[in-house]
Amino acid sequence: MFLKNCWYVAGWSRDIGQGLVARTILNENIVMYRQSNGSVAVLEDACPHRKLPLSKGRLLGDIVECGYHGLQFDCSGNCILAPTQQRIPPTAKVRVYPAAEKCGFVWVWMGAADKADESEIFDINDYDNPTWGLTEGGTLEIGCHYLWVTDNLLDPSHVAWVHRTSFAAPGTDGTPLKVEAFDDGVVVSRWISDQSLPPYYAPLVQFDGNCDRLQHYEVRTPSTCINRSIFTPSGTGGDAGQLDERAYVMVSYNFMTPIDEDRTTYYWVQHYNTNPDDEAIAKQLNEGAIMAFNEDREILEAVHIGMTQKTTSNLNLGLDAGSMRYRNILDKAIAAEQLE
Ligand code: FES
Ligand SMILES: [Fe+2]
Repeated sequence: MFLKNCWYVAGWSRDIGQGLVARTILNENIVMYRQSNGSVAVLEDACPHRKLPLSKGRLLGDIVECGYHGLQFDCSGNCILAPTQQRIPPTAKVRVYPAAEKCGFVWVWMGAADKADESEIFDINDYDNPTWGLTEGGTLEIGCHYLWVTDNLLDPSHVAWVHRTSFAAPGTDGTPLKVEAFDDGVVVSRWISDQSLPPYYAPLVQFDGNCDRLQHYEVRTPSTCINRSIFTPSGTGGDAGQLDERAYVMVSYNFMTPIDEDRTTYYWVQHYNTNPDDEAIAKQLNEGAIMAFNEDREILEAVHIGMTQKTTSNLNLGLDAGSMRYRNILDKAIAAEQLE
């Protein structure tokens, strides 16, 4: 069961041009292309005749032609030509999905089209701020249910074991967690005081000595995960809300788009308050993220199999409090949507 009346990332703007791009989102097959006016069209990827994916056909300007018998559809989903007969069948239509672009991503609305509101698309704070750096970001298909990924992104503890050579540092294994719940999401966070820097961040932080470190793990419906990290010189009051001018802030934005119950497309980008024009740093950060997220992938794919095929019961730990709250909030939102 998925939340439908919301925006999901369907791809990177940079990857959608004048060609047909097929994706599966929430078990629905869609096809995307960029129209001559620059906007992205998203259609159901199935011809109403024999359900051949339209992505197997071809694009003629803004018109999609089915690759089997040539039915042609415009970007409003209407059939405009049936070359094998004179009459266009009135039921020859494909569904159109509302789509928009923001912050480098193509977003698609998977629910009732009349409820789509572009102002609800997630916004990256300071996205256009020229003093912040941005990585190229990446995409990873993970063979697991998307809620195993959102669990993972509400779980600061796992870094001590899964990311030993990147994000882990003293304190990530045992410092108590704070859980805050909202109508549409959960934040799990903690300040770790006076510890050494983790290997991934050490070359980027512009001060010497130990740090105080914030791990802020936030998930909002349907599956937007915001990981905010702050490293500030030890004892400068970061945990009391003061941001020292030397503080290093890195926000990792992670968007989980369910393919189906067993697969997830993971999109991410990282945004940080230093070195906006340093391509080498952006590349280094992105490569580190790809390495670390592949570490997560290996664990989460095995967890998905383990939990799907379990023959004995499993248990929860204290560290699961945030993810359990989130699952509860999401379950309620899905149930409310089903009632509508
Ligand atoms: S399957 Fe598309 S026209 Fe026949
Ligand atoms: Fe991780």
